[in-house]
Amino acid sequence: MDHPAAPLLQILDQAEIGSAAARLVLDALSARPAPVIGVATGSSPAPLYEALAGTHADYRNAAWFALDEYVGLPPGHPESYAEVLRREIIEPLGLDPQTVHVPDPHRADLQAACDDYERLIAEAGGIDLQILGIGRNGHLAFNEPGGALDSRTRVEVLTEDTRRANRRFFDSLDSVPTRCLTQGLGTILEAGQLLLIAQGEDKAQALHAALKGPVSPECPASVLQLHGRVAVLADAAAASLL
Ligand code: GLP
Repeated sequence: MDHPAAPLLQILDQAEIGSAAARLVLDALSARPAPVIGVATGSSPAPLYEALAGTHADYRNAAWFALDEYVGLPPGHPESYAEVLRREIIEPLGLDPQTVHVPDPHRADLQAACDDYERLIAEAGGIDLQILGIGRNGHLAFNEPGGALDSRTRVEVLTEDTRRANRRFFDSLDSVPTRCLTQGLGTILEAGQLLLIAQGEDKAQALHAALKGPVSPECPASVLQLHGRVAVLADAAAASLL
């Protein structure tokens, strides 16, 4: 029986993570006439976006899809992922905002917004390279522990642990949304290639469970083991238990 190739792990420092990740994104951008990149928010991809900003590549034919978005923030809230992506990729890379897609958390029918998002990804030809971070509880995008491993884009309720981890971006814990829209694990697994970036000691346990533990809903990121084309870029602290 064929097994998917194990994730390819590289242990690098912060600057090296940025440039190695940027190389993978630039390769994906040049592999197809209309490439599609899945983008994560949060701290993990920051070195990548900084490295990309220095390359002045041509992004005109590319489309970009966010992994997830909060539900419950007013439009234009600085911590909504639509705004984070405007600050972190649209402006620094000079992208056309029409090419950067985020699931719409302001629709009355949120599941319809999720279904439309899946359709848009499919119409773009699928995601070629999906950039990912990992939550310290093993979440991937906002897929929290306990959900189906083949889930699709949907509304998810955030765990207390995730809300506490993201508290740093808000005035108080009460201001952190309780719900979100997220690409499902099944959606993520359909991307041609996955690129996981993990830094810091507080990711060590989750990274170990994701790469060395059983494939289980208890660690959503363990689905990486089911995909044959995964690159993991980690610093020494995040990789310390591997
Ligand atoms: C967040 C995001 C994820 C992100 C992960 C890790 O809550 N919704 O998409 O990849 O959790 O975040 P960070 O990189 O800030 O540690």
